[in-house]
Amino acid sequence: MSLFEARDVVAGYSPTDMILKGVTVTAAVGEIVAIIGPNGAGKSTLLKSAAGQVHVAKGDISIDGRKITGLRPRDVAAAGVAYVPQEQNVFTTMTVRENLEIGGYVDAAGSRDRIDAALRRFPVLGEKARDAARTLSGGQRQLLAMAIAMMVAPRVLLLDEPSAGLSPVAARDMFATIREIADGGVAVVLVEQNALDALDLADRAYILAAGQNHTEGTGADLAADPDIRRTFLGGRQTGDQR
Ligand SMILES: Nc1ncnc2c1ncn2[C@@H]1O[C@H](COP(=O)(O)OP(=O)(O)OP(=O)(O)O)[C@@H](O)[C@H]1O
Ligand SMILES: [Mg+2]
Repeated sequence: MSLFEARDVVAGYSPTDMILKGVTVTAAVGEIVAIIGPNGAGKSTLLKSAAGQVHVAKGDISIDGRKITGLRPRDVAAAGVAYVPQEQNVFTTMTVRENLEIGGYVDAAGSRDRIDAALRRFPVLGEKARDAARTLSGGQRQLLAMAIAMMVAPRVLLLDEPSAGLSPVAARDMFATIREIADGGVAVVLVEQNALDALDLADRAYILAAGQNHTEGTGADLAADPDIRRTFLGGRQTGDQR
């Protein structure tokens, strides 16, 4: 059994139109699992389903064998699953510190120490703790979104396009941070547009297409597969310049 399991998940935004048609994704403690696939494949919908934000019609989602299917978002968070959405993942008019305070609402008592720890872990946020989040750069905002998610000391971290809009250097830093978080014993499931870099980072990866599992394997195996490269990775062949 993996720490995080989504099994045969059928889910969607209206009862007559299921976007996910039976998707299975698992992630173990310390593992980074990437989900890649074309636009509209259902990658974000899968994370939202796990976070309790999309209705799951069939299938089961669990953490450590405990079913979280159908729980409200705050109960999913309390169960140890943190979710960083693709967009609008910080409160722009509030300060960096206030954002972290809200992130810690599930466990207000432990929250002050965690805020201090977060500001130490991400020094750039420490420098801007009293500034409104709207004054952050794109990369700093993504770091803040991640720091907010870490406020609940999650066991599972769901990240939707954490490197979106970041410079190559900032994206590399972001990936290093994600690896550190996983090494701390968190199961990370991330969706990435930047598929080659995601496969490079991930221990395992799933390709979703049209709401279904297409292929799964180690990041290295998928990146080396000529068919996968042609169909899902922009057609580059092994040995081509990235
Ligand atoms: N809030 C919503 N209401 C209705 N349909 C939605 C909603 N969000 C997404 N969809 C539909 O669900 C399908 C899958 O969308 P989803 O956002 O999961 O794709 P994705 O794989 O994350 O794509 P992208 O790579 O573009 O982010 C799309 O057809 C989309 O139009
Ligand atoms: Mg998406």
